[in-house]
Amino acid sequence: MRSRYQCPRSGKTGQLPIKWITAAAIGVLVLVLVVAAAGCTSEAPEVALFYYNGEDPYIHTFVEQIKERAAGRLALTGYDARNSQTLQNEQIDGALADAPDLLIVNPVDRLGAYTIVNRARKEGVPVIFFNREPLSEDLELWSQTYYVGARAEQSARFQARLIIDLFGGDPAKLNAYDTDGDGAIQTIILKGEQGHQDAEIRTAEVLRAFETAQFELDILAIEVSNWDRSEAYNRMEELLEAFGEQVELIISNNDAMALGAISRMRQEGYFADTNGDGAIDAADERWIPVVGIDGLDEAVRQIEDGYLYGTVKNDSLRMAEAIVDLAEALLTGTDPAELTFPPEDGTYIWIDYQPFTLE
Ligand code: BGC
Repeated sequence: MRSRYQCPRSGKTGQLPIKWITAAAIGVLVLVLVVAAAGCTSEAPEVALFYYNGEDPYIHTFVEQIKERAAGRLALTGYDARNSQTLQNEQIDGALADAPDLLIVNPVDRLGAYTIVNRARKEGVPVIFFNREPLSEDLELWSQTYYVGARAEQSARFQARLIIDLFGGDPAKLNAYDTDGDGAIQTIILKGEQGHQDAEIRTAEVLRAFETAQFELDILAIEVSNWDRSEAYNRMEELLEAFGEQVELIISNNDAMALGAISRMRQEGYFADTNGDGAIDAADERWIPVVGIDGLDEAVRQIEDGYLYGTVKNDSLRMAEAIVDLAEALLTGTDPAELTFPPEDGTYIWIDYQPFTLE
């Protein structure tokens, strides 16, 4: 490990009275001892953490969880790229100039990983990517690169399973959630950011899962809302205008967009306690299932309150553990294969999703 810390040196004394020099010498000695005790010798490894956008609620929580897990083990410095790969590249260059021991990177653009790996390799600084998956050929550029994430196919299959169960489980006999009784489910899909592996795979795989189960989905629209709550809120206005009462299901690639859709729908009179029983649920008129992914705290609250039907937990807490444990192992020479979440094929750590509804 490189040394980054310079112990303070004593300065010139000049022509000073003896007692001043003695006092100064004692002062310097005390200072040196304090500095040595404070970390000249036993300092935590310096790790720079880069994330694509701190305003993304999923990433915000994820970063907090990494910081909590790292407390007392890694000296972490965080950098928010505010959704700009250019800014993130500058941040990485700046951080590398201070010779950190390791980088943890949530790239803005997953294709940006190519440059990041090459820069880090040149400096000999290992990199752990998370959440936005680099291309496998970019990870193969250097043996000291890792990825911690979750398999998007799995989240889509769990999402489809929640919905299939809700609609009765039998494709030939949909229950009352098929409000027009036509044997197909009129659906709007809210898609995350184009090109993001989770948006592409979740959308394709949820459709495939329904097909495999022989459930007929009638796709009214697939709307890109970039993972963003307010974008989904705005799009929902036009979608409700266009499709209104036809809509029987909303599948969202994440919770933030699902919550945005629900806010707009509530404004349009959906999710009201129309039967006056004090609860918001499927027994009310104009209650339609909305399903997200992530398991944000607010999503869980809205499930409990009857607005959101379900979500699939995208387990950032476990991923944060896996990231920090891997970082520490790499920096202390521990074999990563011995970790609770060991890398597969020497590179990938996959954390399972978990379905979540009131049941
Ligand atoms: C999450 C989204 C998040 C995105 C950021 C996805 O895995 O489900 O909520 O916006 O990652 O990259």
